[in-house]
Amino acid sequence: MEITFRLNGETVVLRDVAPTTTLLDWLREARGLTGTKEGCNEGDCGACSVMITDAHGARTFNACILFLPQLNGKAVRTIEGIAAPDGALHPVQQAMIDHHGSQCGFCTPGFVVSMATAHLNHRKDHDTQLAGNLCRCTGYAPIVRAAEAAEAAPVPDHMRDVPVAKSKNKGSDALFQPETSDDLATWYQVHPDATLIAGATDVGLWVTKEFRPLSPVAFLNGCADLRGIAQTDDAIRIGAMTTLTELEDAIARHHPSFAELIRRYGSVQVRNAATIGGNIANGSPIGDGPPALIALAARVHLRLGSERRDMPLEDFFIDYGKQDRRPGEFVEAITIPRGPGRLKCYKLSKRYDQDISAVCGCFSITTENGRVTAARIAFGGMAGIPKRAAGAEAALIGAPWSEATVRAAMRAMASDFEPLSDMRASATYRMKTAQNMLLRYWHEDQGVAANALEVMP
Ligand SMILES: Cc1cc2nc3c(=O)[nH]c(=O)nc-3n(C[C@H](O)[C@H](O)[C@H](O)COP(=O)(O)OP(=O)(O)OC[C@H]3O[C@@H](n4cnc5c(N)ncnc54)[C@H](O)[C@@H]3O)c2cc1C
Ligand code: FES
Ligand code: FES
Repeated sequence: MEITFRLNGETVVLRDVAPTTTLLDWLREARGLTGTKEGCNEGDCGACSVMITDAHGARTFNACILFLPQLNGKAVRTIEGIAAPDGALHPVQQAMIDHHGSQCGFCTPGFVVSMATAHLNHRKDHDTQLAGNLCRCTGYAPIVRAAEAAEAAPVPDHMRDVPVAKSKNKGSDALFQPETSDDLATWYQVHPDATLIAGATDVGLWVTKEFRPLSPVAFLNGCADLRGIAQTDDAIRIGAMTTLTELEDAIARHHPSFAELIRRYGSVQVRNAATIGGNIANGSPIGDGPPALIALAARVHLRLGSERRDMPLEDFFIDYGKQDRRPGEFVEAITIPRGPGRLKCYKLSKRYDQDISAVCGCFSITTENGRVTAARIAFGGMAGIPKRAAGAEAALIGAPWSEATVRAAMRAMASDFEPLSDMRASATYRMKTAQNMLLRYWHEDQGVAANALEVMP
């Protein structure tokens, strides 16, 4: 396989590298570019942040869980390429010095890359842009002050990377990077034991943490027809390769609460890589996408060779680790019916940013003339699969939309789930908080504002 990309302005062509070599390992070991640091090696700390430019713009990624074939046709900028070619510091580098934004310095290259990318994109939501970069000693205030101080400075010309023409590769028995979903469908039918790699935010950890050999593999990032969001009068269709960042931007005007949930999904670096298809296909009981999509009555579209089928998303999840997906079949898209935006999503995790849900509850309840006419309630973290609260829904539908009805539905919810106790939460805590999320939905519907970040007197 041949991979072509630009690295700090210089074109690189790689042949016959192991397809699951991470960008981080390659930068440090093959190129000696050791400015990009290895902290956690699992996407959590941002020490390995790099900027990648392609047709979708310039974004930050975690190099530790990014495989080299994912770079084909793109431009990579590491910390070594952030200062100008003549050595002049980037405005965010100068600001980090001026505002004392670094102590031991281990996290600093990752922060600077994230800050320089945000600066290029004129992003001023620094808390969000930097939520995926961890610092153990300086503290965040000086770093955010540095980011603010650099906002007005012009973007240095060298930061505007231009992607490169990608290498075209024929599929082999071990490795494939298809250009279209038709090619993928044909190859995957013949190689149903292959691992599909979308954003690699799950699969990357199989390599870096579990040292799992993954052959054969197919990289889906070349399939442009699997990526993007299309709207009709009736539905919103989201291609499986649509990233969480793209979904957040597109869904905000339809379902702002879903967009807010996505903002708390991993970090900017994770959301720039992670796809909605991967978030569904991994079958995780604690993924944040499925509860929201199930509450919205989404359907999942599957493809096996030339055969296509679709089903309600909740039916896709059969049991823990078991989905209704046949060998050689892949997720092509999700569709959400257009409708009134009654969706509210509540994510409960130990940290506000960059944390996996203990419980994620998503609610869409419709009322007419004071009665509940429809209710869809779905949870992550309450069972071995993302699951609807059927008893609670039944207790709501047809009843007056009142606190008494809501409390009856909360009691009914106790029979809907038998949650587990684990390091994230106990079973009792999970049940109690899931029930209280319904009460919160009701209060918010009555106009009572609830803000999880506010400290109430
Ligand atoms: C630091 C960190 C934080 C995270 N935070 C969150 C979070 O807050 N909420 C959350 O829900 N998740 C979180 N995740 C998990 C992960 O980001 C998601 O599950 C992600 O959406 C997976 O998508 P991907 O494109 O990276 O999938 P990949 O890792 O590429 O693939 C995941 C699985 O899906 C399969 N697959 C991928 N695409 C398809 C397809 N089209 N058809 C069939 N199979 C396919 C792969 O073969 C693999 O089995 C986090 C991960 C990390 C590393
Ligand atoms: S090393 Fe921690 S995110 Fe990559
Ligand atoms: S300066 Fe030491 S970890 Fe941030």
